[in-house]
Amino acid sequence: MGFMDEIKKAGREIKRACKDITAAPFVREMCDNCANMYRLGWDERNGGNISYMLDEKEVAEYLDLNKVIRTIPLMGVNAAAFDVTPLVGKIFIVTGTGKYFKNVKDDPENNLGIVRVAQDKKGVELLWGFADGGRTTSEFPSHMMCHMARLAQDPENRVVMHCHPTHTLAMNYVHELDEKKLTHTLWEMCTECIVVFPDGVGILPWMLCGTDEIGVATADKMRDFRIVVWAMHGVYGAGKTMDETFGLIETVEKAAQIYMLTCNRPRINTIKDEDMVKLAELFGVKYRKDFLN
Ligand code: 13P
Ligand code: ZN
Repeated sequence: MGFMDEIKKAGREIKRACKDITAAPFVREMCDNCANMYRLGWDERNGGNISYMLDEKEVAEYLDLNKVIRTIPLMGVNAAAFDVTPLVGKIFIVTGTGKYFKNVKDDPENNLGIVRVAQDKKGVELLWGFADGGRTTSEFPSHMMCHMARLAQDPENRVVMHCHPTHTLAMNYVHELDEKKLTHTLWEMCTECIVVFPDGVGILPWMLCGTDEIGVATADKMRDFRIVVWAMHGVYGAGKTMDETFGLIETVEKAAQIYMLTCNRPRINTIKDEDMVKLAELFGVKYRKDFLN
């Protein structure tokens, strides 16, 4: 390396050392979202997890990407069924397993981690966070599978979010778990629903979480849906930005709340299918026509 290169490298390092990663926009977004999700009651105790694919250049403004703190193996994964090739080298900020969303904002360095998918595809390299020895969420294999499925549909997808929203979960116990029927009921609950989730809601039956099987099944649903209900457990949502993903889950949850507030009373009024068609056409969204009656 020449003298000028050495100077430039030292300059980059000094610049990086002056930037506080806890003030980085992507760390703040994670903190704010976890706090909001906790406040809304979607993430009791350690419930829920988020993974957010980051831009390498943006991360390099804060961290030396050559400094790997440790490698974290991918847990609960059957390598044969799980090919992570499209994500090799990608960097994510992710919540830790067993960590409480309630605590993320005040202590991001212990509750969050920035990881890069390792070249050998067997684990992730920790670049920052999980300071108390923590690991990525137990659902990280499912998240990675969902990222791959969504990226194949939309190259701009960045976020996968899992949580336990109260009314959506309540609805699982009293409404038929049929994709068409559940989506239709939700679309009827708020005028904007068909515009926010025109692709509808996918459903998986109750399955054991933290396994490849549920990851493969979720990713399979994510080819058609940006939101998938895990029966009697919670939801998985995906989107381009944190706001979009949060807003998607928030809209489904709001509709489920209205359903739960009204389901044991006589229904006098409703949004008709013909009204939903008008909305979808006005907003130019491609909706699941087969989910209308
Ligand atoms: P983690 O604590 O491993 O993220 O798991 C929480 C959860 O919601 C499992 O489904
Ligand atoms: Zn969960």
